[in-house]
Amino acid sequence: MVSGDEMTSEARAVSNGVVSSPGETDPDASWVDPAADLTLEEARRQVEPLRDEIRRHDYLYYVEGEPAISDEAYDTLFRRLKAMEEAYPELLTPDSPTQRVGAEPRTDLPTIEHTAPMLSLDSTKEPADVERFVDRVRRGLGVEPENPGPTWILEPKLDGVSIELVYEEGVLTRAVTRGNGRQGEGVTENVRTIPSVPLRLREEDRPAPPLLAVRGEVLMTLSAFDALNERLMEEGSTPFANPRNATSGALRQLDSSITARRPLDFLAFDILTIEGVRFDRDMEGLEALKSWGLPVPDRLETGSSLDDILAYHAGFVRDRDTLDYEIDGVVVKLDDLEGRDLLGSTSHHPRWALAFKFEPRKEVTRIERIAIQVGRTGVLTPVALLRPVEVGGVTVSRATLHNREELERKDVREGDLVRVQRAGDVIPQVVEVVPEEARKRAEPYRMPEICPNCGTPVELQGPFTRCPNRFGCAAQLKGRLVHFASRNALDIEGLGKETAQLLVEQGLVEDLADLFHLEAEALAELPGFAEKSAGNLAGAIEARRTTELRRFLFGLGVPEVGVTVARDLALHFRTLEAIRTASREELEEVSGIGPKMSELITTFFQDPNHARAIDRVAAEMVELTVPGVPGEGAGGGADGAGDAHPAFAGRTWVFTGGLERLTRSEAKRLAEGLGAKVTGSVSGSTDVVVAGEGAGSKLARARELGVEVMDEEAFVALLEEAGVDLAG
Ligand code: IVH
Repeated sequence: MVSGDEMTSEARAVSNGVVSSPGETDPDASWVDPAADLTLEEARRQVEPLRDEIRRHDYLYYVEGEPAISDEAYDTLFRRLKAMEEAYPELLTPDSPTQRVGAEPRTDLPTIEHTAPMLSLDSTKEPADVERFVDRVRRGLGVEPENPGPTWILEPKLDGVSIELVYEEGVLTRAVTRGNGRQGEGVTENVRTIPSVPLRLREEDRPAPPLLAVRGEVLMTLSAFDALNERLMEEGSTPFANPRNATSGALRQLDSSITARRPLDFLAFDILTIEGVRFDRDMEGLEALKSWGLPVPDRLETGSSLDDILAYHAGFVRDRDTLDYEIDGVVVKLDDLEGRDLLGSTSHHPRWALAFKFEPRKEVTRIERIAIQVGRTGVLTPVALLRPVEVGGVTVSRATLHNREELERKDVREGDLVRVQRAGDVIPQVVEVVPEEARKRAEPYRMPEICPNCGTPVELQGPFTRCPNRFGCAAQLKGRLVHFASRNALDIEGLGKETAQLLVEQGLVEDLADLFHLEAEALAELPGFAEKSAGNLAGAIEARRTTELRRFLFGLGVPEVGVTVARDLALHFRTLEAIRTASREELEEVSGIGPKMSELITTFFQDPNHARAIDRVAAEMVELTVPGVPGEGAGGGADGAGDAHPAFAGRTWVFTGGLERLTRSEAKRLAEGLGAKVTGSVSGSTDVVVAGEGAGSKLARARELGVEVMDEEAFVALLEEAGVDLAG
């Protein structure tokens, strides 16, 4: 069940650990059962049954969709548990329903291997392909032409973010994004904040298996998404383009308390790995997931013919706009698991499943005007300003026309009737002009010859039109500010498009460095600002004087340097200075950087205007940090610490058991900073296992496989040898 609207209720928000955090005084505490009056022994007896009761209500609410008690009654139970755990912290367990938030912010997300490859689905929009697929499977399974079947599982194809959740002995131990299908990013702390993800499997109907890895989708309901965007806009932040982007951003936060404030939901649809149990049919597996407390998609059906599949698809095409979550098709899967094994998979997708996708949503509307937008790199983008039209539940009033060539190819003119489409996370596009015989069209649209913003004559570059006045054009400066403050860059809350526009218009900011000289008093004078919002913005900027090098680098807007390249450059060179002065050959040592990119990067840094602007903004920074080593001064040289070390570089490490000198996540972060890959499970490809206090099955497995095992002391010694200073 997806229950976004109910999820905003206070009781569930409390269960999400957001409304009341430990230590906060609770205005309603007077009517909470005085749990603190219990003796330790009484509390010890009561605490686990109380947790079970809360878990039972979570199950009824999130999985069955039939809450048995009111939000207020749930709230009371939850507060009672919290009070008990606060009075007796020794009773706290990591899988307690109160423990969804609390991990320290991370400095990066670890790379973790999946328990099994997360394949993607073959997909089509054509009924004829679905027919071919059905025939192929029938032939593969040897179904006689006159017989019906096989049985198909039919599910909505959820348009969220794919994830693997791993439960060991019934307890959620890790959550990993799909990544490249073999390994993804570890987002465990963030996933723990999602109320519909059980921290521990329910065992009322059947015991939890020793290992269960489920695949599912993290998503945001449309109602929750709308409410979130409204809140962001009120705060002066940029709203998200669609629920999937909002979900993906929330999942990849380094600080899980931010994730907790995003209304995420989870639905499971596939068992990736399971030990100790075997199912014959997918349906049995789905039933088991449900009984373990994992929510599965509603409207799940079975069918036995092509017609059933087509009818199921048609039903969703009809109802798609009434659902509270985004779907982009339906998924057809063979129910018989033995049959699945028989058919097998290609290297990309299983032969027993197919995504039958929807046609993108299209609507017809009129172009009122064509406007030109000047972006941060000076590119002039023609934008169609449309008579507002609803395209699949979203009001569209602008659509990109991309560039001069596209505009000419489609021959889109002002006043034209056009078909507009919104597909997946793509910004609305004008697909084509709808011919109107009776109407006289406007003249063909011509791109301006001068920049509409600063009047500089434009230059043509292939299909693009560009304003070359990089440092004098206010529109480009505004774009650079927005980019510098954006989520993957410095992530300055409250500095969105409108604010950037104001800062530039009012002459408060002439380059990036000026941001750091904005005074709250001056900001408070700006239209739409009050003392509080001005103080917040000034504080948010000040807080970013210490920032990760990769974010700073991405924020500079170096051509071709996206989030991934910025991260790789930061990890490889470790200081801004080293990156700025790197030769093309040195840059090309970083995987993914080829000759074209190295040239663009060196040209960018050598430009005297850029060099001056970067000098100025770098001088404002206190620290540009890189994971694995204590931060370095903005322009400073490397101190030798944290360079890739042979014991770590390219080797796979696993941490297990309790560590004393470091937390597990610090240990991981440090090892990764030295070039190690850290995974959660021991396998043939593991190189080293660090076994702390109480290490169990992973240590045993390491011994079995003859993997090198070391204790914490040896690990710390290695860190010190690699130049990491743990004293500070
Ligand atoms: S089954 C290999 N079922 O769609 C088969 N996938 O490329 C396992 N998706 O990112 C996937 N809804 O995560 C399956 N009901 C559903 C799904 C679903 C969404 C996602 C999946 C993947 C993409 C397919």
